Amino acid sequence: MKAKLTALLGWVDARFPLTSSWKTHLAEYYTPKNFNFWYFFGSLAIFVLVLQVLTGIFLTMHYKPDASLNASGVPVAFASVEYIMRDVSWGWLIRYMHSTGASAFFLVIYLHMFRGLLYGSSRKPRELIWLVGMFIYLALMAEAFFGYLLPWGQMSFWGAQVIVNLFSTIPLIGPDLSLWLRGDFVVGDATLNRFFAFHVILVPLVLLGLVAVHVLALHAVGSNNPDGIEIKKNKDANGIPLDGIPFHPYYTVKDIVGVVVFLSAFSIILFFMPEFGGYFLESNNFYPADPLVTPPHIAPVWYFTPFYSMLRAVTINFFWIDAKFWGVVTMGAGTLILLFLPWLDRSPVKSIRYKGPIFKTAVAIFVICFLVLGYLGLLAPTPLRTLVSQICTVLYFAFFLLMPIYSKLDKCKPEPERLSG
Ligand code: HEM
Repeated sequence: MKAKLTALLGWVDARFPLTSSWKTHLAEYYTPKNFNFWYFFGSLAIFVLVLQVLTGIFLTMHYKPDASLNASGVPVAFASVEYIMRDVSWGWLIRYMHSTGASAFFLVIYLHMFRGLLYGSSRKPRELIWLVGMFIYLALMAEAFFGYLLPWGQMSFWGAQVIVNLFSTIPLIGPDLSLWLRGDFVVGDATLNRFFAFHVILVPLVLLGLVAVHVLALHAVGSNNPDGIEIKKNKDANGIPLDGIPFHPYYTVKDIVGVVVFLSAFSIILFFMPEFGGYFLESNNFYPADPLVTPPHIAPVWYFTPFYSMLRAVTINFFWIDAKFWGVVTMGAGTLILLFLPWLDRSPVKSIRYKGPIFKTAVAIFVICFLVLGYLGLLAPTPLRTLVSQICTVLYFAFFLLMPIYSKLDKCKPEPERLSG
């Protein structure tokens, strides 16, 4: 039997790099021995991506992207989601896995990105890993936005209406651009159909492709680690990093622990609080979309609210152009500025472990501002809330724009020669 399997493997290897890929990417991919819990989030992101694709396939079997009204006067798309929840065997579970999965995905990705900031993982030679990661993040935002329209509830409809209308603030081309995006004068059946196509095929394809490039780029240069020093600097006579251990079996087994912990927390939310107090599924979205009734308070889902706050923080018209347009520019800049992170940090050390007090304080202020912006974005604006979001927006941008200066001025500790443990 064993001889037959070896022969079969030999046959495959002569035609496809199976064993060599296994070795390059797993059994002989040497990873720093000091990964901590922050390193769970990459494999968790892959896990949640697979979960979203699988649950999405099953949802698509019963969901109908149709805005017309059925015999009971309910939009077909909305009714198909209700059907999944009530009549399809285990449909409620699949749907809640997908809706909770969306929030879990963003939580995992935000922590994954923050790890990159903490340990300087975006810096040379890993700039491309970071850039590709940022494209993944942008694609993920698009994916969540398109998906949110599909249940065709009140928040789906009005959320899409608000976001597509933002494009109409662009001078000259704005109104035509938003009409082109919607495919109609209001968000309607044409919009629902195209968002469905983007959500189920276009963006997932882009995401899967980008994730493959992300991991390949990582394996070309090797992983960073909590000390921010390169393990490739110290190798043994065979060229194997002295502080490296094979990814498989060491980290495959460790990552399974991460998946188990994640699934435990995920299950608690899934089975006991799938709406998560309105943060994961908003109560207004349990009403079918009604173009004639505007909800009193329209807010995006929590993962967009930091940027939504930035949009609302801009209240002054500049150069005779409406404040709303500058709000859109600020919101866009707030996301795109992250693209430049690899080149903004000029500190001689990568990891926060060896950085000085200025950088550490700046990171703490940045985190507080991001969380405050996220919280305020969920609430209706008041003059005080707008003022606080203006201050936090300024500090958010200052964190990035002043980084080349303060990261150089900071008093860093010397990095060790070998991993510290
Ligand atoms: C679907 C989304 C994503 C998936 C599946 C994914 C997957 C992974 C995996 C498996 C790793 C190696 C394990 C680890 O270091 O934790 C990794 C590393 C990395 N990722 Fe991602 N990632 C995603 C999104 C992002 C985003 C949005 C960014 C940042 C903008 C990013 C930046 C990085 C960086 C800088 C590394 C290298 C970390 C290091 O070596 O310390 N990733 N990613």
